[in-house]
Amino acid sequence: MEALGIANIQKWFVIGNFSNEWLPEASFENYIFVAYPMVYMALHPLAAALNDTLSGEGSRAGFMLSRRGKELYFPEGGIVAQGQEACGSALNATLGIALEDAENPLCLSSIADAVSLPSRAVFSYAPSAGVLALRTAWVAHQRERNPALRFPVSLPVVTSGLTHALAIAARLFADEDDEVMLFEPAWDNYQLLFGSECGARLRPVPLFHGGSLNVDGLRSALNAAGNKCILLLNFPNNPTGYTPTDAEARALAVAVRERAERGADTVVLVDDAYAGLVYEQGVFRESMAVLLGDLHERVLVAKIDGASKEEFAWGLRIGFLTFAGKGLTEAGMHALEQKAAGAVRASVSGSCNLSQHLLLKAFASPEYAAERRAHAATLERRYHACVRILGERRRHDLFEVLPCNSGYFLCLRLTDGILADRVRLLLLERFGTGVIALPGNLLRIAFSAVPEDQIALLFSNIVSACEEASGT
Ligand SMILES: Cc1ncc(COP(=O)(O)O)c(C=O)c1O
Repeated sequence: MEALGIANIQKWFVIGNFSNEWLPEASFENYIFVAYPMVYMALHPLAAALNDTLSGEGSRAGFMLSRRGKELYFPEGGIVAQGQEACGSALNATLGIALEDAENPLCLSSIADAVSLPSRAVFSYAPSAGVLALRTAWVAHQRERNPALRFPVSLPVVTSGLTHALAIAARLFADEDDEVMLFEPAWDNYQLLFGSECGARLRPVPLFHGGSLNVDGLRSALNAAGNKCILLLNFPNNPTGYTPTDAEARALAVAVRERAERGADTVVLVDDAYAGLVYEQGVFRESMAVLLGDLHERVLVAKIDGASKEEFAWGLRIGFLTFAGKGLTEAGMHALEQKAAGAVRASVSGSCNLSQHLLLKAFASPEYAAERRAHAATLERRYHACVRILGERRRHDLFEVLPCNSGYFLCLRLTDGILADRVRLLLLERFGTGVIALPGNLLRIAFSAVPEDQIALLFSNIVSACEEASGT
């Protein structure tokens, strides 16, 4: 083994395990058996070192990485890192940017004049893992917004939007044929991210059973899954706008713990895109990460969140990827951050520096908190207008409203025989109204985007289009 440049058997397993076989407590012979038919591939020593840190952990994080996740590392000592070390030198000839003087980028005033931030914050590159002040501020915000987040979490790695954070999580954890459990209906991009990009198999579980969260359905799916699986949770849910009640959230966490206690590993990806937008009493108001991030050594949480919806800044393209897990030490969390930063470096190199500094500027603004509250209240009023109008409607035979209590959207399941896409097209052509038709004969209504005084008209148009499509 040493002759192959491989320091120990565990690394050899890491290099050789392309079989997707699960060998939880594999013996020396198992490793040989798995590695024997494999094509040898060099593992970068930095990746091997991160893997060593993770497999020496109390948590099972090292074993939950995908093959590509095991190969990831951040190039410490590379160009980016050497450039960072030289930051502040009187003469700095490391940077891949053009400087005017020691301080300022050689930038175009026609761009600089449009932004009231120092040119360095606008034009220079941000570190691959993100601007440190923003990463620290984001954890502080998350702890404030989730008072039960009292256990250690990693520093968030900044990504170019939540989709990018999900893509990195998929790369870190999802191997071909891995099972990804998720409630359905779900955001359609998950199929591309996990299915098309990683070859994982999506296992949808119906979101509702008898008007409540289908915890039993999820428990059965988790029971039936192999020794490693990925659970993808998204509340408030896109497209239904549903968030579990307090009791449902706790029952869901129990189902995950039961699986862990049976000796199976679960990577839980918590997509908190619409965090904080909850409009009814008794609904779980914190991230599911608070119930799962310190639950069991066999449960690893990757929390995906960001500025897009939480800060009403969709086009800034700032997301965050944060790790937590019982038994995960500071060194283990740092190893995961390094791997995620490596994935950022290999995809977009670094996220937008201007966007990161705009957010930091907003966080420091005395108006920031009140502005966020006011926007959330606007969405809440629109939600209640929908609930009121749908409650008053006469034609109950046209559609059923799926349970909804949060987020941006609600879903109507159209009665059999009234086709969602036909209604969508009628709405566009005859009523100047746009909605989304989804599989399951659903119409997704983004009440987030419709002024309160037009919500009655929106639903009146929908009812008219449904009547027309049904021939009544
Ligand atoms: C559930 C969910 N996750 C993630 C995203 C992606 O967010 P971003 O625009 O930051 O990539 C969306 C966007 O619509 C979403 O609905």
